[in-house]
Amino acid sequence: MENETLPSERAGNLESYEKACKDFTWASGEEEFEWSSGGPYNIAHEAIDKHASSWRKNKVALYWESASGKMRKFTFGEMRRETNRFANTLVGLGAKRGDRVFVYLDRIPEAYITAFGTMKMGGIFAPIFSALGPDGVRDRMLDAGARFLVTTPQLFERVQPVMESLTELSTVILVSAGTEQAPDKCVWFRELMRASSPDFETERMAPHEPYVIHYTSGTTGKPKGVLHGHKAMVQQLVTSKFVLDLKEGDTYWCTSDPGWVTGTSYGMVGPWLLGSSLLSYEGRFDPRTWYSLLERYEVTVWYTAPTALRMLMKAGDDLVGEFSFPSLRHVCSVGEPLNPEVIRWAMRTMGKRVHDTWWQTETGAMLICNYPCSTIKPGSMGRPIPGIQAGIVDEEGQDLPPGREGFLAVRPGWPSMMVGIWRNAPRYREYFKIPGWYVSGDMAFRDEEGYFWFLGRADDVIKSSGERIGPFEVESALLEHPAVAEAGVIGKPDEIRGEIVKAFVSLRPGYVPSDWLKAEVSQFVKQKLAAYAYPKEIDFVDSLPKTRSGKILRRVLKARELGQEVGDLSTLEK
Ligand code: PRX
Repeated sequence: MENETLPSERAGNLESYEKACKDFTWASGEEEFEWSSGGPYNIAHEAIDKHASSWRKNKVALYWESASGKMRKFTFGEMRRETNRFANTLVGLGAKRGDRVFVYLDRIPEAYITAFGTMKMGGIFAPIFSALGPDGVRDRMLDAGARFLVTTPQLFERVQPVMESLTELSTVILVSAGTEQAPDKCVWFRELMRASSPDFETERMAPHEPYVIHYTSGTTGKPKGVLHGHKAMVQQLVTSKFVLDLKEGDTYWCTSDPGWVTGTSYGMVGPWLLGSSLLSYEGRFDPRTWYSLLERYEVTVWYTAPTALRMLMKAGDDLVGEFSFPSLRHVCSVGEPLNPEVIRWAMRTMGKRVHDTWWQTETGAMLICNYPCSTIKPGSMGRPIPGIQAGIVDEEGQDLPPGREGFLAVRPGWPSMMVGIWRNAPRYREYFKIPGWYVSGDMAFRDEEGYFWFLGRADDVIKSSGERIGPFEVESALLEHPAVAEAGVIGKPDEIRGEIVKAFVSLRPGYVPSDWLKAEVSQFVKQKLAAYAYPKEIDFVDSLPKTRSGKILRRVLKARELGQEVGDLSTLEK
């Protein structure tokens, strides 16, 4: 597999990877901005207002299609007005710089307007994926001390039961055309927007002042709030240029939801910094609809995830054969390992290369990638972007030679590196516990030519359909079910989804295992936590393997599930 290669087809914005690695400096990235260069920063200024006061004023910034096929579009000029109105709306409601503005919406234009409106007034945009249930929303809003929430009346129904616990919350802004009496603490978005001025003086931010907080899962505890500063835009712009390879006439589609980092860094910020037209589709995954969107909007660059590509592959060659994509230059992929088979399929059926990219919520932007000007080695994640030093290290921080497996680590200080974890400095410091390195939590190796190959996670974090799921969060939700005494959760390999969430559950006295109970427990977690995080498989067991101190040994559960050696059990409870 390691010997298979796909030669480069053409030079992109990046003409030579090797040359750029020698010559590139981050300072050259800064030159693209109107403000910055050591001065004030604001992503919203560079992504919207700069274009709105140039010839791009009437260029389409956003093409949007609803789940039912309704279309809307916004020019950069219109986006400036709408985001200014929202910034004024927030200020009118008493919002201050640094306030956390939660946005719990489907992929609708208001998600973009409220994101950049928040950034303009110096607030921290806190997106949450609309598939998240009441407990997930409450945990995140409580942790971040949410000041504002933007949502729809339908999604608000999920939040209403937990409203009392959200003591720092000032106002809920409901996105709908309602004029009737709004519920307690709630106001109507449209009404306020109509009354707000379309002019706004964008706040001048320091490079490290946060513009976004993304909640993401680890092995232990509840999800943590990863903060990114306005300076992240330097790397978001450079990678949108070098990796996405965006050019002036492009229509670019990122399928990730703004609730995830890919949906903000590359579904909003990066491409708009370059003045590209974005496509946003509200609906869910459906092979025919997705192909049709690529064709109808003449998408030129498409950023998606391996699970989606695997599902398209499964939908068959006949279906893809009904469409043609003459405008599409290449596909980019992120979030989980990209199978060589998928790369071969895309070449065979669409005639397009798939460029794998590796990064994380914490890294804010792409770090290890493939480029139009470079050879692809299917199965490898590619090579570090110019300006980034990545390594494979051991526990002491020794940079290991090619071929040796170890921790995938990066020299800290890249422009989009997280600026903190909200109210959790110890967790932030843990990422840097190996001196001189940021430790990613992934295991990998590097080959002689500097390509990185992913091996797996070093921890228990689960990746299902590209979503990052913390086992602890699922176990906690399971334990709230009256029938559950103990629960251990693992990622079980799955051909399409990468992994699925599998739970091992022991029952309280008086409960009897049954298929009905499995379905009921599964549904319980789905409703509380998230539609993507519930256990698709549950095994009832008499007891769970634990350490003497009572910690559930997930690695033992996993090894047993996979029929592997269980390894050292000396700490196991006897
Ligand atoms: O395990 C790696 C996997 O996804 C993790 C980061 O997840 P998240 O913070 O949700 O960010 C996803 C999108 C930026 C990584 O630690 N991962 C990400 N990209 C790849 C990958 N695994 C293999 N190949 C990739 N290209």
